Amino acid sequence: MRKKIVAGNWKMNKSLSQGLQLVDEIIAATSDSPSNSVLKIIAPPFTHLASVHEKIKTISGFSVAAQNCHHMSNGAYTGEVSSEMIHSTGTSYVIIGHSERRQYFGESDSLLAQKVNLALTNNLIPIFCIGENGEERKTNQHLEVVKKQLKEALFHLSPPDFSKLIIAYEPVWAIGTGVTATSHQAQGMHNYIRSEINKKYGKEISENTSILYGGSCNPQNAQELFACLDVDGGLIGGASLKAADFVSIINSFAN
Ligand code: PGA
Repeated sequence: MRKKIVAGNWKMNKSLSQGLQLVDEIIAATSDSPSNSVLKIIAPPFTHLASVHEKIKTISGFSVAAQNCHHMSNGAYTGEVSSEMIHSTGTSYVIIGHSERRQYFGESDSLLAQKVNLALTNNLIPIFCIGENGEERKTNQHLEVVKKQLKEALFHLSPPDFSKLIIAYEPVWAIGTGVTATSHQAQGMHNYIRSEINKKYGKEISENTSILYGGSCNPQNAQELFACLDVDGGLIGGASLKAADFVSIINSFAN
């Protein structure tokens, strides 16, 4: 059975004290909610990872993710953070390939493949982001774009390694725009992604891979999106910065 997951990507937001307060509020609001079967992942900035881990480590159903990792294992890369360092803070997951990293930092699928390899070597589980931009959707290239991202960044992995991954489908045109994919568009793409995984790795792995939706997911639309057969949860940006919104999204599974 694949996991239901809601992950909050804080991006470059929240001071340490603000972040820890947000975590306290999320923990308090989920303590007796019906969300126990949902894995809740919090992805704060690097500087907060160890402290957030300290807060959630004894609370079941919570985990921490980094938002990025470097593609080399160590060395003279001033300002960068390695997978090994991230893992040493108690962090279990790492977001790789977010469209903001691809767009603003020029990260290609071949570079992202190196990040995935090192993350797995250092016992971090990648939450790997894929998705087309607005132009690619308009010109009906979205399936091809996503297929290429899967092939170039992930399909070199052995079946045991691939089976550890979480995939996040994040159409770039929906991220931070307030325009969400319809449940029909999300289900169509998630089903396509699962069928591509099935072709490469077989039915068991494809059925067990959690595929999250991301892009303007909020308390109003989460229930409909999460009700789709192939949508196993969400990667939440803006709405993860307010405890009430984030918890309401988490509870969308149980409603
Ligand atoms: P958003 O961001 O929810 O603010 O659209 C999602 C993401 O970038 O992961």
